[in-house]
Amino acid sequence: MMKTKLAKDLGLQVPVFAFTRSPEVVLAVSRGGGMGVLGAINLSAEELDEALAWIDARIDGKPYGVDTVMPMSYAGRGEGFDEEKLRSMITPAHHRFVADLLSTHGVPELPDSYARKGEDLLGWSLERGKEHVEVALKYPIALIANALGTPPPEVVDRAHAHGVKVAALCGKVKQAVAHKAAGLDIIVAQGTEAGGHTGEVAGMVLCPEVVDAVGDTPVLMAGGIGSGRQMAAALALGAQGVWTGSIWLTTAEHQSYNPEIVNRKLLAAKSTDTVRSRAISGKPARQLRTAWTEAWEAEGSPGYLPIPLMWMVQAEAVERIYHHGNEALAGTPVGQIVGRMNTVRPAGEVLADIVAECEQRLAWLAGLAG
Ligand SMILES: Cc1cc2nc3c(=O)[nH]c(=O)nc-3n(C[C@H](O)[C@H](O)[C@H](O)COP(=O)(O)O)c2cc1C
Repeated sequence: MMKTKLAKDLGLQVPVFAFTRSPEVVLAVSRGGGMGVLGAINLSAEELDEALAWIDARIDGKPYGVDTVMPMSYAGRGEGFDEEKLRSMITPAHHRFVADLLSTHGVPELPDSYARKGEDLLGWSLERGKEHVEVALKYPIALIANALGTPPPEVVDRAHAHGVKVAALCGKVKQAVAHKAAGLDIIVAQGTEAGGHTGEVAGMVLCPEVVDAVGDTPVLMAGGIGSGRQMAAALALGAQGVWTGSIWLTTAEHQSYNPEIVNRKLLAAKSTDTVRSRAISGKPARQLRTAWTEAWEAEGSPGYLPIPLMWMVQAEAVERIYHHGNEALAGTPVGQIVGRMNTVRPAGEVLADIVAECEQRLAWLAGLAG
């Protein structure tokens, strides 16, 4: 038991929040006393509905959440989501660059029998995010979290009307203050060491800054947390819990959600093998450093495109790279904690270890005082 006020308010035994694409990880973490939060970004509304129905039928009434991505800025915001118009904004130089990169690294075409996953646009838009929220609110979820900005007032109101708390990620104090002003219930202070879209400020600096700036709004620390010692440090900095992402990528329950080449590279990577790059979405996101991220930075690069164009220009290429298991080009968002993710273990065991070590470390710290 770790009795922060937020843990008590949400009925959690341990304030460990797990962002994940895997419904199985959501189940394991929520059943273990924390909160699993399902990432909706690469799901259609129907797929999200199916995943939540699956979770809800198995989670024994334990709290769980859904994560959406409603970015503050992207190409085409406020103009509906016109796929053809967006496609026409991608330059021939960008298409050529991607084709040349695949050919330089000997990546064959996809076989005729291959069924494209069709995630070309991903969920990086207000329209798509709102669809996800509507689906999520059909279920007895405890939390909606949002990345890349403050969710719009109508979304916050809809969630609150359903008794659902709203959280959002931030990488700067200014964003945390905006989240609070918009009436959000929880702020996730995410340090630069985190996997996925992330800012430049280290968690050690950001977390106490945000805690002091937002007063009684609870803060979760994110970025680089994969052990109980790191969780104890987050609590010491004033966070009421931790928000984690990378650590679940190498759990047994997540293996089928990663291409095989990614599973192998994650287990082998060191904490120095990531880079904060705009190569996935156009906004800086921490990921494995690969020949792909290097090429976009090198001479001859056509430069980055804004969300969602940057993903659109590469969606099929990424499927080709994964399908053929190209060692040099295959990457994934992941944080610096990847250096400690060296074995595949069940998510429940990973959570139990974090909690046990945190409790032990808190007791040890208490013994140092006085
Ligand atoms: C593979 C991956 C995908 C992510 N996608 C999202 C996302 O769609 N929405 C979101 O709010 N955060 C996303 N994140 C960030 C996580 O929510 C979380 O803040 C981050 O992983 C915490 O840092 P850590 O990776 O060091 O644990 C992603 C992280 C990873 C590793």
